[in-house]
Amino acid sequence: MTTYAQPLVTDDHRSSVPGGADRWKLGAGPTLLPHRQLDRSGAPKVSLEEISLSYKTSSGERLLALDQIDLKVSPGEFLCIVGPSGCGKSTLLHLIAGLHHPTSGKVLVDDKVVDSPGTDRILIFQELGLFPWLKVGENVEFGMKMKGLSRAERREKTEYYLRLVHLSQFKGSYTHQLSGGMRQRVALARALATEPDVLLMDEPFAALDAQTRDLLHDELERIWAETGRTIIFVTHNVREAVRLGDRVVLLTFRPGRVKREFQIELPRPRHLEDVTVAQTAGEILGELREEINRSLEVEYHDGVKPHVVPGVEA
Ligand SMILES: Nc1ncnc2c1ncn2[C@@H]1O[C@H](COP(=O)(O)OP(=O)(O)O)[C@@H](O)[C@H]1O
Ligand SMILES: [Mg+2]
Repeated sequence: MTTYAQPLVTDDHRSSVPGGADRWKLGAGPTLLPHRQLDRSGAPKVSLEEISLSYKTSSGERLLALDQIDLKVSPGEFLCIVGPSGCGKSTLLHLIAGLHHPTSGKVLVDDKVVDSPGTDRILIFQELGLFPWLKVGENVEFGMKMKGLSRAERREKTEYYLRLVHLSQFKGSYTHQLSGGMRQRVALARALATEPDVLLMDEPFAALDAQTRDLLHDELERIWAETGRTIIFVTHNVREAVRLGDRVVLLTFRPGRVKREFQIELPRPRHLEDVTVAQTAGEILGELREEINRSLEVEYHDGVKPHVVPGVEA
C-alpha cells in the first residue's frame, strides 16, 4: 500500500470521543481536526471477505460485477472508494447495507454476518429521498420514528443534529424551500439522527456546484471527527477522495477488484486546492485512467477507441 504523509501533528482528539449510545449528548466536539492514528490492531468495523457478486443480465448471461473483494475497515475510519463508472462501487455499498447478497463471500459488521439492512448502517445517496410533504424537522425525525424512539428523545435529537449541520433555523421549512446543499445536509442530519455506526455514502455530492461541495466536505469532515462514525464514501472524483479519506481504495473496471490502496496521511483539515491533495490525486488518477480507458474500450466496442479520457476531475 502507498502512504502519503506529512509531518504528524501529535494531538489525538478523536480517540477521546467516547463511544456508546449517549455520545450525541456531548455537544460540540473539537473544532480542530488534528491528524490521528487509526487503531488497526483491533477488530475491524466492516470486513468484506472474498466477496464476489454476479448479476443476471437481460440476455440471461451472468455479469461478474465484483470479484474476490477483500477489505477491512477500522472503526472510525474514513474510507473512500474510487473507480470508473460501472465498476461496482454502488453494488459494494448495497452489499454492506444488506440490500444485496453476495454470490460468494461474506460481509461482516462487528464480526456478525450481514444478511439484511440494519439500523447500524445507513446509505446516503445523491437522490436524497427526503419527503417533500414533511418539514425539515419532521424529515429528520422520520428515521427515529421508524426506530421507535420516544417523542421527547426524537425532539431532542432533531435539535442536536440540525444544529450539527447548521440548519436549526430551517426546522419548520419544507425541503423545496432549501438549496441543494441544504437539502443534502438535511439528509445527513436525518441519517446521523438514527445513530448508525457506519455511514455508506454513494456519490452524495456529485450533483452539487463546486462551492457547495467544498462546504459540505468541511461539514462532513467536522461531523465525522465529532461523532466518530465509520464512513465508507464512494466517488468517481479522485481529488474528493483524497480530500476526505484516511484511505483510498481503487477498484478495477469490470469485474470490480481492489487494484490498489492508498493510505492518505495528509494533515486535516484538508482542502481540495491543497497542493499535496492535488499531487496525491494526480498519482491515483494515473492508475484510474487505465481503468477508465478499459471501460471506454468496452463501451466503444465498435473498435473506435477515443484518445481522450473525458469528464474526470483530478
Ligand atoms: N440490478 C442489476 N442487474 C444487472 N446488472 C446490474 C445491476 N446493477 C448493476 N449492474 C451492473 O453491474 C455493474 C456495476 O454496477 P454499479 O455497482 O452500479 O457500478 P458503479 O456504481 O461503480 O457505477 C455495471 O456493469 C452495471 O451495469
Ligand atoms: Mg454508482
